[in-house]
Amino acid sequence: MDSERPDEKEGQPKAGNGAPQKPADPNDPEGIKSLLRAASGVPAGSRKAVPAETTAAATTEEGGRASTADFISKTRKQGLALKDRAIQEAETYKDPQQTQLWKSIFRVSHDRSDPRNRSLAILSNVFLHLHPAKINRDAVRYGFTWGMGGITFYLFIVLTFTGVLLMFYYHPTKVQAFRDILYLEHDVPFGKLLRNMHRWAAHLMVITTWLHMFRVVLTGSYKRPREFNWCVGVVLLVLTLLLSFTGYLLPDDQLGFWAVTVGTNMARATPMFGSEGPFGPQLGMTPYNDVRFGLLGGSIVDANALLRSYIWHCIGIPLVASIFMAVHFWRIRKDGGISGPAPVMLEAEMKATKK
Ligand code: HEM
Repeated sequence: MDSERPDEKEGQPKAGNGAPQKPADPNDPEGIKSLLRAASGVPAGSRKAVPAETTAAATTEEGGRASTADFISKTRKQGLALKDRAIQEAETYKDPQQTQLWKSIFRVSHDRSDPRNRSLAILSNVFLHLHPAKINRDAVRYGFTWGMGGITFYLFIVLTFTGVLLMFYYHPTKVQAFRDILYLEHDVPFGKLLRNMHRWAAHLMVITTWLHMFRVVLTGSYKRPREFNWCVGVVLLVLTLLLSFTGYLLPDDQLGFWAVTVGTNMARATPMFGSEGPFGPQLGMTPYNDVRFGLLGGSIVDANALLRSYIWHCIGIPLVASIFMAVHFWRIRKDGGISGPAPVMLEAEMKATKK
C-alpha cells in the first residue's frame, strides 16, 4: 500500500491525463504555464487556453513566481500521491483477502499447481509438519528472546500439573477451604512444597509474561506481520492476570478475601456494566444485577464467590488460555518463525566459503 508507483518517482509527477510530465524550470515562463495548465486540469499540449487572468497574474508577479511554481508543483505531487494511495486502499477493500488485516490473521494460500509450491504448502503447515523446515539461528538465541515465552509456557505446565495435584486436597467450601490449606501445609507429605511450587510458579508466570511482552516491544516484534499475534498475546496477558486473581481467593484467608473485595468493588465502576460506572444506572444496572454481582454470584464475597473463583480458576480460564496459547504458537510458525535479527555468518562458515 505504501509502495510507490514506478511512474511517480521524485520529480516526475503524472499529468491529469496520465502522460508523464517534465519538471518545470521556475525561471522559464513556458514551464510555469505548463504547470498551471496541469494544475487547472488542462492536458499538456492541449490547444485549450489557460485562463488569461491566471497567466497574467503569474507573469506579472515576478518575485513570487519561483516559489508559487514550487508550491503548486509540490501540492500537486502530494495530491496525486494521496489520490493514488486512496485508490489502492479502496481497491484492496473490494477483495478483503488482500487487506493487511486479513493477511495478518489468515494464512496466505499457496498455488498448488506447481510441485515446489505444493511442498511449500506442506512444509509451512503446522499440522502437516510440526517442526519448521528452517529456522533463523539468531532468532532462537537467548540473547534475543530471553527465553521468556518458553519459560512462561513451562510455568503454565508446572501450574497445571501442581494445580491438578492440589485439587485432590482442596474443597471450595467456606467450611473446608482454609482447613484444607492448613492440612496441606502441615500434614500432607510434601504438601507445603506442592503448594509453594504452585504459588511461586504463579507469581513467576506473571513476571515472565510481562518480561516476554517487554522483549517483544524492545525487538519491535509486534510489527507487521505479527500484529495479530501481539493481540493474541494481549489476551494471554489478561488471562494470566485473571488466573492469578481467581487463585488468590481460594485459600479463603484474609489476604485473598480482601484482595477480591477490593478487586470486585472496582468492577462496580465498569462503564455500562457496573452499577456505579458511567451509563450503568441509566442502563438499569443495580448492585444485584451488574458485573460485580455476576463475578461474585451474589452481592458479597461469600460461598458463591469461592465456588465461582474455583471453577474459573481450575477449568474456565486454563481452557481458554490453552486455546489461545495454541493459536499463539501456530501464529509464530505462520508469521515466518520468531522475528530475529538479520542472520549472521559464523566465522567457520566464512572460512568454508573462502576455500
Ligand atoms: C501465557 C503467556 C504467553 C506465552 C506462554 C507466550 C509464549 C511465546 C513463545 C514461546 C514465543 C516464541 C518466542 C519467545 O519465546 O520469545 C512467543 C512469541 C511471541 N509472543 Fe508470546 N507468550 C505469551 C504472552 C504474550 C504476550 C502478553 C504478548 C504481547 C502482548 C506476546 C506476544 C508475542 C509475539 C508478538 C511473539 C512473536 C515474537 C517474535 O517473533 O519475535 N506473547 N510467545
